Amino acid sequence: MGEHSFLYVANWKMQLNYRQALEFCQKNKEGFSKLAGAEDSEIILCPSFDVLHTVAQLFKDSNVIIGAQTCSSHVPGAYTGEVSAQSLDQIGCRYCIVGHSERRLYCTETDQDIAHKIERLLDRGIIPLVCVGETRGQFERKETETVIKRQVSSAFKAAQGAPQFCIAYEPIWAIGTGDVPTNDSVQSVFEQINMLAHAIIPDVQIALLYGGSINDSNAADLKKIQGIGGFLIGGASLDFQKFEKIVT
Ligand code: PGA
Repeated sequence: MGEHSFLYVANWKMQLNYRQALEFCQKNKEGFSKLAGAEDSEIILCPSFDVLHTVAQLFKDSNVIIGAQTCSSHVPGAYTGEVSAQSLDQIGCRYCIVGHSERRLYCTETDQDIAHKIERLLDRGIIPLVCVGETRGQFERKETETVIKRQVSSAFKAAQGAPQFCIAYEPIWAIGTGDVPTNDSVQSVFEQINMLAHAIIPDVQIALLYGGSINDSNAADLKKIQGIGGFLIGGASLDFQKFEKIVT
């Protein structure tokens, strides 16, 4: 996570099965590697657990970076079905998405669970990419600031002493809907996050990402948001041509 590089994080969610993910990578290996060769951008692919090691191996001789979509909040032990931050480290993950709204919603992850995951990741030197954002109802009731404050403060308290950290602001009403907030409103959330972050961890290097319905036609405009350090891309990251247009 260089100070001046822009992060393009591809969140494949559970959209591709094992074979499809492999085919997608094999078909676009050269393309992804080429995009990752640019000095001012980092390409971070986040496949599901099943294919993580294989994808990491496939790209090991390139600048493509591998990230996970979540990890266990526990240290290794009797936790059926969980995957430890330690394993992610051994596989070669440099980043891990934490607290995506789909996990908060479908897996009932709480700020407390997310805080523990952040601690596990930082113990292994993996950069947490924490997702925060309000629901449409909260947005309409003008509660964005309160929601962000709660989510971000809890994350940063768990990240004491962290050298690097990423926060992705993803309004839930913008994920997969085609709706995007205005650049000004994203910028004011970024300012709020920066203030909260530096009050809790003064020396942290923080990258602020935007996520939610990014596509090849709105990316150029979203890149103009003051202070933006990257994109978290869902749907459009599964189409190499669209992803390439977003990056270049
Ligand atoms: P989307 O998803 O780009 O498909 O809206 C973004 C995300 O959920 O991270």
